[in-house]
Amino acid sequence: MAKVKTTFFCQNCGTQHAKWVGQCTTCKQWNTVVEEVIQKEDKRSWKTTNTTQQKRITKPLLVKEIELHPEERIQTKNAELDNVLGEGLVKGAVILLGGEPGIGKSTLLLQIALQIPQKVLYVSGEESQSQIKMRAERLQIDSANCLILTETNTQEIFKHIEKTVPDVLVIDSIQTLYTNTIEASPGSISQIRETSSELIKFAKETATPVLLIGHINKEGHIAGPKILEHMVDVVLQFEGDRNHSYRILRSLKNRFGSTAELGIYEMLADGLREVSNPSEILISKKDPDLSGIAIASTLEGVRPLMIEIQALVSTAVYGTPQRTTTGYNLKRLHMILAVLEKRAGFRLGAKDVFLNVTGGIQVEDPAMDLAVVAAILSSNQDIAIHPNICFAAEVGLAGEIRPVPKIDQRILEAEKLGYKIFITSKHNKITNKNHRIKLILVSKIEETLAALFAEQ
Ligand code: TYD
Ligand code: MG
Repeated sequence: MAKVKTTFFCQNCGTQHAKWVGQCTTCKQWNTVVEEVIQKEDKRSWKTTNTTQQKRITKPLLVKEIELHPEERIQTKNAELDNVLGEGLVKGAVILLGGEPGIGKSTLLLQIALQIPQKVLYVSGEESQSQIKMRAERLQIDSANCLILTETNTQEIFKHIEKTVPDVLVIDSIQTLYTNTIEASPGSISQIRETSSELIKFAKETATPVLLIGHINKEGHIAGPKILEHMVDVVLQFEGDRNHSYRILRSLKNRFGSTAELGIYEMLADGLREVSNPSEILISKKDPDLSGIAIASTLEGVRPLMIEIQALVSTAVYGTPQRTTTGYNLKRLHMILAVLEKRAGFRLGAKDVFLNVTGGIQVEDPAMDLAVVAAILSSNQDIAIHPNICFAAEVGLAGEIRPVPKIDQRILEAEKLGYKIFITSKHNKITNKNHRIKLILVSKIEETLAALFAEQ
């Protein structure tokens, strides 16, 4: 038997260490370094075919000399997914789909596998063929071109691929696969790295698009090495609340299109329905007469996120008024109340103020300020804000409405989600002038109020 080699990987960022350390030197996380058994062998299980083996000779070229080959794409027949990917699956692209357990990743990809007219091989390491058949029956899509395989060993998978020659490959999930070339257990960092690089090599050499499902860890990132996200061409995230039926598909990385697009689905008893008019989600859910509610357009990392802010302003029963927040910084609320008092003349000093970010999310984006102001004033005056209005701006100490970064991305998201009015600062640099949404640009709190009441 070959000599067993071990090495140490950080479970957080995937960095390889020569020996065990308590703190990862790259990501500075504690207790994330674990020992894994590997047995290095050079051979990969996807053998390079003769045609592609001829070494491509590359030499430096002037930009104008480089020939452009427009990427060939396969339409998935799922308009939302095609749109998120940028007009369909690019041949040879590797797409990673992450999301919470039970959110519908397997359902989405099976539905797509059954819809695509080309030959698809759907490899599952999680469910048996009969389970997948039951799911396919639920989805009620007849397909003559979708083959189902339950297998977790990549060498075996490649044997089946050689026999069946699929046009699209689906893997559910990358964490269940293992390769014979190394000895670590499935789901470990080294196995994920090896199996995904085998699949990427296969995709590039045969120009077959590969869709990979990836589990996420408790922080919400795709489990496994960070390098996985660097290696693939597209990273998609499927998200939503398991207690609600709406699901959002976003792209976190896309080498062939924009990451600003998002797809919306509804999970029904017979599969995922595409929601082409997202305003139906928003407008129907809310009571338009309820005061104290405002929608903020925030950014979480690179992702735009619409969140609902609720405020309740009431006369204080005790001597000292109470100020309580969930999901928002209490000091910032004190500051905003002081600004409202001093700069806009609202007497809130003797009032209790409760502030709540619904959904229990914690977002640290100053762009929430204007929605907080709007929610407080709406509750104070007992005038509801129409649910198709949203806000994105920071509020300064002088009561000025300040610009926020990535304004175009926020506007696009609000537009896609069906909002009709977007209130933000006058000083933003908006580059895209073709917005369908109505923009209201303000520079002071009073102007915001005037604009809001004019719209009511
Ligand atoms: P699944 O695709 O198995 O989730 P994942 O692969 O992300 O873990 O989705 C499972 C959930 O979706 C399950 O709770 C049942 C529900 N579901 C429906 O509501 N309708 C359907 O048609 C199907 C197939 C699943
Ligand atoms: Mg699944």
